Amino acid sequence: MKPWKAVLLILFALAVAAAGYGLILVRRGFSALATPSAIEEFAATTARKLAVPSAYRQLRNPIMPSTQNIRGGMEHFSFHCATCHSDDGGGHTVYGKGLYPKPPDLRAAGTQNKSDGELYYTIENGVRLSGMPAFHGTHTDPQTWRLVLFIRHLPQITPEELNEMKGWDPKSEAVPAHF
Ligand code: HEC
Repeated sequence: MKPWKAVLLILFALAVAAAGYGLILVRRGFSALATPSAIEEFAATTARKLAVPSAYRQLRNPIMPSTQNIRGGMEHFSFHCATCHSDDGGGHTVYGKGLYPKPPDLRAAGTQNKSDGELYYTIENGVRLSGMPAFHGTHTDPQTWRLVLFIRHLPQITPEELNEMKGWDPKSEAVPAHF
């Protein structure tokens, strides 16, 4: 077969595959309840990795991991983050479950293996095309770094600490019976 014919055949096959995938998407709809496919997740994670400037990636947390600083981050997290991420970082909340993409489990390797600077950058700048808001401007630098300390503490969080956080949570989970 002539090379140009082979190229044409490949292009045609790709067009048919793309049209087929498009048809499946349109039939299935675009519900946020779905879980992103492996291709989508790969594309989104790669794009996010590229979007963190290397200067940020190398930043170290300037705040000491003292009990007081971790507690500061913990209180802040239950006020501003737990509605989506849940107190334990697992993301099993009314909002978290309804988002697309859903918040990742902050205790898992996917988050814990990121550098302090990457976590700081994400909290300051948010994640485009997702529910993760940018907190730059509404949070001070030390507040953001204390949140990073608390995210590092999440894998070791105790039942007593979780109980305490429950008292600080905004009350969005409890739907009154008369609603
Ligand atoms: C309205 C919902 C919502 C709120 C509120 C929210 N987040 Fe998120 N967050 C998300 C979603 C959704 C993602 C996943 C984004 C993606 O797919 O890349 C995310 C991702 C993150 C990540 C990246 C984790 C990783 O492994 O890449 C960090 C860190 C984070 N959030 C911290 C916070 C902190 C700290 C707060 C509070 C100051 C907060 N978030 C508030 C929805 C939220």
